[in-house]
Amino acid sequence: MMSLGPTLELTPEHLMIRDAARDFAQNEIAPIAAHYDEIGEFPMETIKKMSAMGFMGLEIPEAYGGAGMDGLSYVLALEEVSKADASHGTIMSVNNSLYCGGIYKYGSELLKQKFLQPVASGQKIAAYSLTEPSSGSDASRMKSRAVKRSDGSYVINGRKSWVTSGPVADFVLLFTMTAPERGHNGITAFLVEADQPGFVHGKVEPKMGIRASATSELVFEDYVCPAEHRLGEEGEGFKIAMTMLDAGRIGIATQALGIAEAAYEAAVGYLTEREAFGKKLGEFQGLQFQVADMKTRIEAARLLIYNAVLAKAKAQHSGARYTLEASMAKLYASETAMECAHRALQMHGGIGYSKELPVERYFRDAKITEIYEGTSEIQRMVIARNVLGLR
Ligand code: CAA
Repeated sequence: MMSLGPTLELTPEHLMIRDAARDFAQNEIAPIAAHYDEIGEFPMETIKKMSAMGFMGLEIPEAYGGAGMDGLSYVLALEEVSKADASHGTIMSVNNSLYCGGIYKYGSELLKQKFLQPVASGQKIAAYSLTEPSSGSDASRMKSRAVKRSDGSYVINGRKSWVTSGPVADFVLLFTMTAPERGHNGITAFLVEADQPGFVHGKVEPKMGIRASATSELVFEDYVCPAEHRLGEEGEGFKIAMTMLDAGRIGIATQALGIAEAAYEAAVGYLTEREAFGKKLGEFQGLQFQVADMKTRIEAARLLIYNAVLAKAKAQHSGARYTLEASMAKLYASETAMECAHRALQMHGGIGYSKELPVERYFRDAKITEIYEGTSEIQRMVIARNVLGLR
């Protein structure tokens, strides 16, 4: 249970993990971020170093290869990593929230040993695959199929898309239809292995931002999945997917917070140095008001994230959902990232548009946080359904 007290003060342990993450991110990630963005390659070396620090399975108990820390430690570390580079943040978030958290919550002992331990300890990389070319926001309208055979195994066919870490993942948490006539209640979760026959790597997405985080289609051609690699029961897949997205959305909110802070700090630095019309840019009231808005939004986003982390920690004991808190944090933090990156770039003028500074990368990276793991429109839909009692 996280120990954020009524004073909102971080414990010495929290400060330690935040500072360790900050040092690592600023010394090891920030200097290579522009290069990996340019070449669009997965930063395997730094991800391995993050694994050694326990960052790839931060909340998973040590017995299953993780670092055994709490939810607040996770977001503190993820914020620092994302501030240095949003691509590293995405890879870390998916590995932790969408994959490890799901297996730990729903997996049998066998699945934990085979599919969780190597990923939480960072020996293997994992992905989460829900989206298909014809089903994004309307996630349950998937066309891929898993057909059960007489020996209990399943044969999987279909095409999945927008899989973060898809090109490099060793294991994938895959959602596919076992009973199409049952709609969302016909979706089942499976753990599949990239080195097995029938697992085919599809098109790699040429993305606008988070270019160092590899994203691709995955194609399943008569992939045979043993019955014991099913996660949960048949038909439980959609609820597992949604539950994991609640956790994932806290991760993306935190990634967005890191991007927003990076953009904000770049803006403040520029306003205090650059002069125009005989004075520092920071002396112009129009720009002062913008910095004030950026700072206020960043601190509000941070509190919404901590609020969601608290709700998640409580849910671990009560079994309650924290969907509302996670969606509010994701919606607000992602729009804050976009706004801060937009304003920071505009304040920089021409040099902000140049690849000589990281501001244009923050702008490109920020945009995805309003799209993946549920667009801003989906978050508003989820929030409204919750507050209006429509669900
Ligand atoms: N937790 C648990 N259960 C949930 C849930 C949640 N957060 N949200 C919904 N459910 C349950 C509902 O209670 C309902 O259960 P019953 O059948 O028992 O009533 C069931 O799931 C169906 O719910 P809805 O009727 O609300 O479903 P819907 O079809 O209207 O869709 C949605 C709901 C919120 C729009 C959902 O489809 C959604 O979140 N869409 C966005 C998908 C998304 O975020 N995709 C991103 C994929 S990952 C990615 O981006 C790439 C990556 O690798 C990072």
